Amino acid sequence: MNSERDAAWVSQFLASRRSTRDFKPTPIPDELLHQILTDALTAPSWSNTRPFKVAVATGDARDRISAEFQSRWSAVSTHLRNGFLGKVKLLISRYGLPTSNRLISKPYAKELKPRAMRLGAELYSVFGVSRENRLQRDQWWAKNYDFYSAPTELFVYIHKSLHIFAANDAGLMMENLALSAHAHGLGTCMQGAVAIWDDVVREEFDIPKEYRLLCGIAIGYPTDSPVNSFQAHRIDVEELLLKRKI
Ligand SMILES: Cc1cc2nc3c(=O)[nH]c(=O)nc-3n(C[C@H](O)[C@H](O)[C@H](O)COP(=O)(O)O)c2cc1C
Repeated sequence: MNSERDAAWVSQFLASRRSTRDFKPTPIPDELLHQILTDALTAPSWSNTRPFKVAVATGDARDRISAEFQSRWSAVSTHLRNGFLGKVKLLISRYGLPTSNRLISKPYAKELKPRAMRLGAELYSVFGVSRENRLQRDQWWAKNYDFYSAPTELFVYIHKSLHIFAANDAGLMMENLALSAHAHGLGTCMQGAVAIWDDVVREEFDIPKEYRLLCGIAIGYPTDSPVNSFQAHRIDVEELLLKRKI
């Protein structure tokens, strides 16, 4: 695996992975998911500690988690569309407020905001969502909570003791997982959106208190919906590199 041809194939393969946001209901065979998780574990890790765990939600557990997420999102988004009074009602009822990772909803830093705005605008146009229509945007976001119809949602937990380094290791593992899935004809979508209601996942899985929820991953077979052909912009290497001081 070290010829020029192999290297070119790898570059092409990496570039061809894209987030999937519309899945078929077809279940993933157990052996295949096991293989993908085995591949995920070939990623490097801090002192080989593998400071993460994964909850695999399928079937009834997946459906119960999704139903509660959708119910919470519906409550929160309805309140937030109703101005000041809606916000007050939300704060009083508290139903749907984040129970984990509260900082996710903070506005993006100035430097990063244009990239996120660009992604949002481009995705909305593929989904046929008008940017000015808050209800449509909320309905689109709600698809996150049905895991874009994926039959399986993975919840990635990280060990609190290693702080950002645990998230780093989990990220490496998650990318291996996504690439292995892609190689097997499956799609994935990382989902920060599901990281805010950890208590719902804990109702279904036995999760030690030292672990905190980092991210979800929707996984399954992609449909041929145009949303799955969406090509998110990628920054170029010049934008990645830090400048030398002169
Ligand atoms: C940590 C993380 C969280 C993400 N959360 C979401 C999410 O909640 N919903 C979603 O639709 N996409 C989510 N994404 C997918 C990104 O929007 C996507 O990776 C990015 O736009 C680049 O597109 P690509 O994956 O198709 O290359 C997330 C990606 C990462 C890495």
